[in-house]
Amino acid sequence: MRLRNYWLGLALCTLCIAPILGQKDQIAATPPMGWNSWNYFHSNVTDADVRAAADAIVSSGMRDAGYIYVNIDDTWEGPRNAQGEITSNSKFPDMKALGDYIHSKGLKFGIYSSPGPTTCARYPGSYGHEQQDANTYAKWGVDYLKYDLCSYGTIMRNESHGDQQVAWTMMRQAYEKMHQALLRTGRPILFSFCQYGRDAVWEWGAEAGGNTWRTGTDIQDSWISMTDIGFSLSGLERYAGPGHWNDPDMLEIGNGHMRPDEYRVHMSLWAMLAAPLLAGNDLSHMSSDTLSILINKEVIAVDQDALGKQGYRVSNIGPFEVWVKPLSHGEKAVALFNRSEDAFPMTVELKAVGFRGSAKARDLWTHQDLGIIRGSYTATVPRHGVVMLRLARPKS
Ligand code: GLA
Repeated sequence: MRLRNYWLGLALCTLCIAPILGQKDQIAATPPMGWNSWNYFHSNVTDADVRAAADAIVSSGMRDAGYIYVNIDDTWEGPRNAQGEITSNSKFPDMKALGDYIHSKGLKFGIYSSPGPTTCARYPGSYGHEQQDANTYAKWGVDYLKYDLCSYGTIMRNESHGDQQVAWTMMRQAYEKMHQALLRTGRPILFSFCQYGRDAVWEWGAEAGGNTWRTGTDIQDSWISMTDIGFSLSGLERYAGPGHWNDPDMLEIGNGHMRPDEYRVHMSLWAMLAAPLLAGNDLSHMSSDTLSILINKEVIAVDQDALGKQGYRVSNIGPFEVWVKPLSHGEKAVALFNRSEDAFPMTVELKAVGFRGSAKARDLWTHQDLGIIRGSYTATVPRHGVVMLRLARPKS
């Protein structure tokens, strides 16, 4: 009898622990955070730039704020050797050593490839070498793969003979193939789809093995590009969750063509969207304004909230948008976005964001407690600006 209780207890205990362990070990349980070389360095990125980024991510405090992945984008690739294995080019003399360097700083190492024969910048892709490449990445200590459709689009066109459904199936299979190859390495590698949202990737990306998927076109360092891309994720919230996230593309904060208020909109919107936060600026030379936006811990906490819910639009009256994001413990993040050309008073009705009567409020950019607010809250929001709040039920 006692023995039966023992086994029963053990079984129950295993059942209750397993999901907890699963969650902890899950890749991208919260949206990935880190840095990617493309938005600033483009094709010019070198080993030295990536090491400098790793150094700066630590010395600036970004690592401790959650930015962990250091990702090399396109243009690291060299020719294949006699065995067909991918090598790096002269800008990256030793990928394993670079990976070790990144890991020695408590960071993770990301890399880039394409399911096509060439990448978007026309370097060698993984076509026909998927398992070999996955094995090489694992050998180098890679933790993150961005897989960019690029020239595979041509293969799809040629082989589908104009049948769009066949083309989409080929695309999905190409991503699934690399997912399986990554799994077979036995190394946990975050898999980031980049195919610009084609065939409503949010509907099948998670099933095909994606931890993140780009929802659209490449971001530019401009107000129009950033807001077009970011606000268009409204409606996709039901597809995001722990382990699988909509990806509106990497951050442009600090690249110089938007004003600080606009970069605050960028950071706030991406946090409301539970989007990956991959800085895309030159971390070795950033202003204190840029850094303070990137490491606003209260805004990061909204992005990284364990509930893993993407926020959604509550209202938009012309260029004035109110968004809400459910957080753990019944709290909510609320963002008032002013997309107009003038400062404007904006109001959020508490009942519209799920609070009855009153809420305890904190401003996440001024870092001030606003006390108990009742019924509604009004703030003047700068042009191309945001006011972001965290709301909780008042203690009764
Ligand atoms: C595509 C991607 C970009 C970047 C470049 C590299 O345009 O969308 O994010 O990776 O390729 O060539």
